[in-house]
Amino acid sequence: MKVNGKVTRAIWLKSDDNCVVQVIDQRQLPHAFVVLDLTSVDEVCGALKDMTVRGAGLIGATAGFGMYLAALEAPDAGFDAYVDQAALRLQATRPTAVNLAWAVQRLRAAIATGDSPAQMRQMARQAALALADEDAAHCRRIGEHGKALIADLAQRKQGQRINILTHCNAGWLAFVDHGSATAPIYAAFDAGIDLHVWVDETRPRNQGASLTAWELGQHGVPHTLVADNTGGHLMQHGLVDLVITGADRVTRNGDVANKIGTYLKALAAHDNQVPMVVALPSSTFDFTMCDGVANIPIEERDADEVRLMTGKTRLGLIETVQICPDATVARNWGFDVTPARLISKLICERGICDANEAAILSLFPEEG
Ligand code: MRU
Repeated sequence: MKVNGKVTRAIWLKSDDNCVVQVIDQRQLPHAFVVLDLTSVDEVCGALKDMTVRGAGLIGATAGFGMYLAALEAPDAGFDAYVDQAALRLQATRPTAVNLAWAVQRLRAAIATGDSPAQMRQMARQAALALADEDAAHCRRIGEHGKALIADLAQRKQGQRINILTHCNAGWLAFVDHGSATAPIYAAFDAGIDLHVWVDETRPRNQGASLTAWELGQHGVPHTLVADNTGGHLMQHGLVDLVITGADRVTRNGDVANKIGTYLKALAAHDNQVPMVVALPSSTFDFTMCDGVANIPIEERDADEVRLMTGKTRLGLIETVQICPDATVARNWGFDVTPARLISKLICERGICDANEAAILSLFPEEG
């Protein structure tokens, strides 16, 4: 996608130095656009943990490049042990998005095909780059499938503006390019469909307000920021035609883990007969799990993310303030699980399907 008119991805290898991974520091958006160098596995683990980079697809792509840096760092004697240790460290950074373990395992398998440390480093570089390119290509295809769905809604509304509600940031910043939930939005907007996006702020880290609003603004997509609890009211008043979110893990029966608050949007959508659609690349399916609520690990993060808020003051300074009494205890679950029965459709790179095991496996017969 474009930043100030310049084609930009969320992660890339520095062109004059193949040992440096570059990412956008997402903690500083929307107030500053800062590119950071990641030069070691330690730095990659830090960037994943502190959410310099975040979002399921980008977490996977970053872990892929982290494995490449591990292969560069590994001594020739003890190469495998070093890379295995790095894989464990990377996998431990964030528990919910399955793309992380998927990417680490894919890189580990690619590295193992080399005959020597030099060749294994080369395999790691190729595999990390291929994984990133594949993520971008899959998201682009999600956009094409989802565009047809939005076009269908537009036709039924006889060309009247389509209002779409999204939660968190499943945009290109959460992937390598295009995004999952936003890909259909960008594709439909580029095709001339009249649409508008309700952007949930997404407390506590405000990925909607900081990232989705910024992305949509960069692309010129009309949008309005709303407080997290507004969606139900909008739906009751016919102001939402479609809810579309991303996912951090989807089980083989179609249960969806996504940013905390998604479940409440799905309940409101169900009560108001608004389609609730989830967009994800195949790397976000976890075919080993059949019960999302029981099985998906839910990340609990630092309570200070709830107790504090960061933003720009009227003087233009970035400040963090406390929003509760000094002694108030807080808890901070990052994700929730929406049961498959509340999901109207899943969109992935292979097409659109219902959220149940038979329908999902019709797109992924190799997992049957
Ligand atoms: O905690 P984050 O920001 O890494 O959470 C991930 C998300 O942005 C959302 O849950 C998103 O909708 C799915 S990731 C594409």
